[in-house]
Amino acid sequence: MAQQEGEAPLTDDEVLANVFTILLAGQDTTASTIAWVAYFMASHPEVQRKMQEEIDTVIAPAAMLEDFDAGDALTYLNAVINETMRLKSVTPVLAVEPNYDVQVGDIAIPKGVVLSLLTREAGLQQGGNSAVDVFDPDRWLTGASAASHHRAGFMPFGSGPRLCPGRSLALMEVRSAVAMLCRNFDLLQVKDAPEVEEVFAFSMVPRNLRVELRRRG
Ligand code: HEM
Repeated sequence: MAQQEGEAPLTDDEVLANVFTILLAGQDTTASTIAWVAYFMASHPEVQRKMQEEIDTVIAPAAMLEDFDAGDALTYLNAVINETMRLKSVTPVLAVEPNYDVQVGDIAIPKGVVLSLLTREAGLQQGGNSAVDVFDPDRWLTGASAASHHRAGFMPFGSGPRLCPGRSLALMEVRSAVAMLCRNFDLLQVKDAPEVEEVFAFSMVPRNLRVELRRRG
């Protein structure tokens, strides 16, 4: 509309490219993050119970988050989301290409060389109180040093000037969806379901994820 009124300099191709970027960058990434949280909730009933206790305390009798700020009070739920993104980052590989020759530490990178950055690795280097490959939301809560320790290597939304511009929206969406799930359903593993696998298809998505949602009594 702004274009028709002569106010927008964007061409149709540029509008299309931006809509495409936002859909591609925003939809699958957020949906798959919610799916991985559901995976951990179903496979860790004790974690799920703690999430439900918290959500019941913070938002009952409401059935879902009615106020965006209420999400900040969900300390444990937010730790579960962080821990999920640490182990199952949906963007574990970023491709970057320098516009000019750069030196990073003792590595010279010529202009135009395409690099694949493995962003999940740093978060898997140090363990805190439990082993690095163990799903343990408490590692985000047990003392300031533990949290900052993990934050240092934690970059599910990238880093620097190209940091994901949808980060806050994505976190709000994930929190709202997970809060709604916790408040209303028990998530259960499906018996005899095949093993869940990671599949990299632009974003890293779960294959074979089957979770039963049973309405909470
Ligand atoms: C859990 C969900 C999401 C994850 C894990 C995620 C992750 C990322 C990552 C790792 C990058 C690259 C950052 C870098 O190069 O350093 C990125 C870029 C981007 N994201 Fe997200 N994102 C998510 C949701 C969203 C949403 C909801 C939107 C928009 C509605 C969005 C829009 C974008 C755009 C436009 C870029 C490109 C920015 C640029 O190249 O300057 N993302 N995202």
